[in-house]
Amino acid sequence: MEKGYFITLEGGDGTGKTSQINALKAQLEKTGKTVVTTREPGGSTGAEEIRNLLLQGEPNRWLPMTEVLMLYAARLDHVERLIKPELAKGNWVISDRFADSSMAYQGYGHDLGEDAVMRVQKSALGDFEPDLTIVLDLPVDLGLARAGVRIEENSCSEDRFERMGVNFHEKLREGYLAIAKNNPDRCKVIDASGSVDEVAALIWAVVQKKLDVGTGI
Ligand code: TYD
Repeated sequence: MEKGYFITLEGGDGTGKTSQINALKAQLEKTGKTVVTTREPGGSTGAEEIRNLLLQGEPNRWLPMTEVLMLYAARLDHVERLIKPELAKGNWVISDRFADSSMAYQGYGHDLGEDAVMRVQKSALGDFEPDLTIVLDLPVDLGLARAGVRIEENSCSEDRFERMGVNFHEKLREGYLAIAKNNPDRCKVIDASGSVDEVAALIWAVVQKKLDVGTGI
């Protein structure tokens, strides 16, 4: 059986993860892979219930550490009930956000710090991590402008996290760049300022180089 890989897409609000996940899934399917896409917070039945608690309500509804514990409770369920079983079948899994979001948003954005988040991660997940993480990087003003358009189009979206200020998003971006720097084998930063097709081509080149995508069917 061929090996399936676990790929995560990360980035601030408005970096275009959803379009890129769809494009990457389509590319991989052209080479004959079975690809499962998922998202966090959520991705499994229990984790989706925790997602509702996390994303609804006032911006300060939860303390940052409470958020981390809820995020990892959800993540453990997601990993054990969906991600690992799919990988065991030889399928590829692409997740819209994963553990780096907790490090970037709660660790850096909300100033909890790297060590606090990493301790929870180790307790919950041990050494489990993605085979490849794509970090979509955009200047904050551009990302917020793109996300703003999306919020207007969908005014009742779960936007508790998107209501944070510009300063928060600057810390978030720096956090993601630091995570990528600290994990150079796993993470690849991609400039997300181009068109959907341009960014998709950059991502596909990285995936081909890093993972065994085979020669196609
Ligand atoms: P979502 O509606 O999925 O937004 P996006 O399209 O930006 O992924 O909401 C997810 C929000 O949750 C997003 O603002 C980031 C935040 N989040 C954290 O703060 N920590 C985490 O560990 C995860 C997975 C998400």
